[in-house]
Amino acid sequence: MPRGDDRPPRVFVSRRIPEVGLRTIVDACDATVWPDDLPPPRESLLAAVAGCDGILTLLTDRVDDELLDAAGPQLRVVSNYAVGFDNIDVPACTRRGIPVGNTPGVLTDTTADLAFALLMAAARRLPEGDRYVRAGLWRTWGPMMLLGSDVHGGTLGIVGFGRIGQALARRASGFGMTILYHDVNRLPDEITSPLRATYVELNELFARSDFVSLHVNLTPETRHMINADSLRRMKPSAVLVNTSRGPVVDQPALYEALRDGVIAAAGLDVTDPEPIPAEDPLLSLDNCLVVPHIASASRATRGKMAEMAAANLLAGVRGERIPTPVNPEVYDRPGGAS
Ligand code: DGY
Repeated sequence: MPRGDDRPPRVFVSRRIPEVGLRTIVDACDATVWPDDLPPPRESLLAAVAGCDGILTLLTDRVDDELLDAAGPQLRVVSNYAVGFDNIDVPACTRRGIPVGNTPGVLTDTTADLAFALLMAAARRLPEGDRYVRAGLWRTWGPMMLLGSDVHGGTLGIVGFGRIGQALARRASGFGMTILYHDVNRLPDEITSPLRATYVELNELFARSDFVSLHVNLTPETRHMINADSLRRMKPSAVLVNTSRGPVVDQPALYEALRDGVIAAAGLDVTDPEPIPAEDPLLSLDNCLVVPHIASASRATRGKMAEMAAANLLAGVRGERIPTPVNPEVYDRPGGAS
């Protein structure tokens, strides 16, 4: 891919991503791919991006002024292999005219599937049941054994009613659930009516829901949105599901709420920090189900994310408009990204 000087663009890819995306990058670029399963340590990351025209990052890589300085002024694009981009200082990229790409849309249904799976599993105590059987405790059919909550006919409160929140509502409607939502913006009836979703204030959502599922971006406003106060507003039978970002929940407060029966159960795909340390008190609780940030982890979806992240990276290093910029304003600036 010539750039005037006939040199292929230099790019750094911070982890091996599915071949369907990686191949197109390696074929077109002078690419360095971090070979380990664990993220590059900070010093290695800073060294690896020096002189690069493009960087493909994961949500575990912090992109900030320090990293952009380390990369150098020739950097033309940052492509994040995720729909979330709270690991990236987007204003810092925008100030430098660098477009940032993410992978919206392709992981919506896969993530909503996992959110619903967590909801079902926590409500019906599936991990506990599995542990019970494996521990050899299953002696007979028990009328009171491992009783959980009905999902069908329950009330689901969805916090953040974007693509994934709406996809969860579609699943819930098949279970005859009443759907409440809260979002910074009240959505138009064309979107909410077919889903039979009703807008409510946040505290009302907490008070009325049997299940509360979080689908907000991590921002200063949403950090610790679920805290001791909001947990106290929920029903003692409530199940909390988080597939957004760990810091949206004040984790010590959640631990106390689950331990003390303030709410019934939680299903978490994300924690704070990640990975959650094995000695974290949450992991001692039977009513807390934790999986390792796998909401988008289907083979098909991870492949589509790889294709999208590669398309953003390649368009960026070519100086073309990237397909899914999170800061499209870079293209409006005089002398900005071309
Ligand atoms: C994302 O894309 O933001 C998810 O957290 C990982 O797929």
